[in-house]
Amino acid sequence: MWLLAAWVLLSAVGAGSAQLIFSGTNVVEKTDCNKTVILPCHVTNLKENNINVMFVTWKKQGNRIFSFDGAKQKFLRDPTVPSANLVSQADLPKGVASLMLNSAEADVGNYSCEVTESNREGETRIELRNGSVVSCGEEYTPTPKEKCGSWFLLAERAIIIALLFSVVVLCAAQFIVITLKYEIVPQKKVGIIVPVSIFTVAAVVGTVLFVQDGYSAQNQAGLGLIVVPAVIFVPLQYFIFGFVFDSLSQAMLALIVLHVLGYIIAVVGFGLCVSACPPLHGSVVIAGLAIMAIANSFSLAYVFIMGSRMKDHHRPGKAVEEPLNELRGHVICEKYTVVDTPWP
Ligand SMILES: *[C@@H]1O[C@H](CO)[C@@H](O)[C@H](O)[C@H]1NC(C)=O
Ligand SMILES: *[C@@H]1O[C@H](CO)[C@@H](O)[C@H](O)[C@H]1NC(C)=O
Ligand SMILES: *[C@@H]1O[C@H](CO)[C@@H](O)[C@H](O)[C@H]1NC(C)=O
Repeated sequence: MWLLAAWVLLSAVGAGSAQLIFSGTNVVEKTDCNKTVILPCHVTNLKENNINVMFVTWKKQGNRIFSFDGAKQKFLRDPTVPSANLVSQADLPKGVASLMLNSAEADVGNYSCEVTESNREGETRIELRNGSVVSCGEEYTPTPKEKCGSWFLLAERAIIIALLFSVVVLCAAQFIVITLKYEIVPQKKVGIIVPVSIFTVAAVVGTVLFVQDGYSAQNQAGLGLIVVPAVIFVPLQYFIFGFVFDSLSQAMLALIVLHVLGYIIAVVGFGLCVSACPPLHGSVVIAGLAIMAIANSFSLAYVFIMGSRMKDHHRPGKAVEEPLNELRGHVICEKYTVVDTPWP
């Protein structure tokens, strides 16, 4: 009996000394902003520090998903985690057996890291959880505004999409105003309808991709489709002014410059945000789109107000181009003699 107890005790001590010991956290969180996930696994008491005597196995909910045989330099990966890899093979002899994999392949759950060094071995458990969206940098800033763990917040996404469609609607409204007030040849109408339609399709696709939660290539492409094609509103505005007015006034020039400015700010904002999660400069995209929307509403007002003041002003090219329309134009002009002021 005494002998047995001594043996149990000795083997326990013996087994203890043959165990590898792990340090570090047992719970890690992933959020939308993690494109890759690192499951930490650090052994603190390796003796040989030799990769040739090491073997690493990672399990997910008890099933082996990854292994590395140091002697043969051989990896085995489960088909569900093709991206899984050691964070650093060079650091494995120092005890770093952490696993890195794409966030999409890393289901939440309990993982285990088993490391063997010659006849010594050990295992540690790491739980991967869904991270909650928490205030970012709470410790550093007294008034945290940005959120961590999400790309754009729902409210920011809603504002961006609302601004985008207000730009489309305001541009369409300008088009409707000029087609109602002026005779415009069908080719010119098509010249406006086609680009606006193409833009609207891009905007709808971009919205569908961007509105979803996450920070993936789709979300990034979505924001790109919302911001980048908006450049067409600059030449479009120029053409719309050109249909109504003979020459570019300073006010029109200023409105076009405002369009360009808004577009540049939006694109710069997109450039700053596309690679940052959380997007610290989301407000730049919003400001750019807001300026474009403002430029469009001023342009609409300008076309609406100034356009009606030049009803009897006839463009030189028009008579040759559309004699019939010109004739109708005269008829319309007569009704508007009240607001007849000379074109500067
Ligand atoms: C997710 O990203 C955050 C911030 O970059 C990082 O601190 C965290 O360790 C990552 N989570 C995992 C599981 O890799
Ligand atoms: C992981 O293990 C912990 C502790 O044993 C348990 O509370 C948790 O529910 C497990 N998670 C999953 C996804 O099985
Ligand atoms: C974790 O989040 C992902 C995506 O956000 C979701 O599909 C999954 O159901 C969540 N899992 C748990 C256990 O909450």
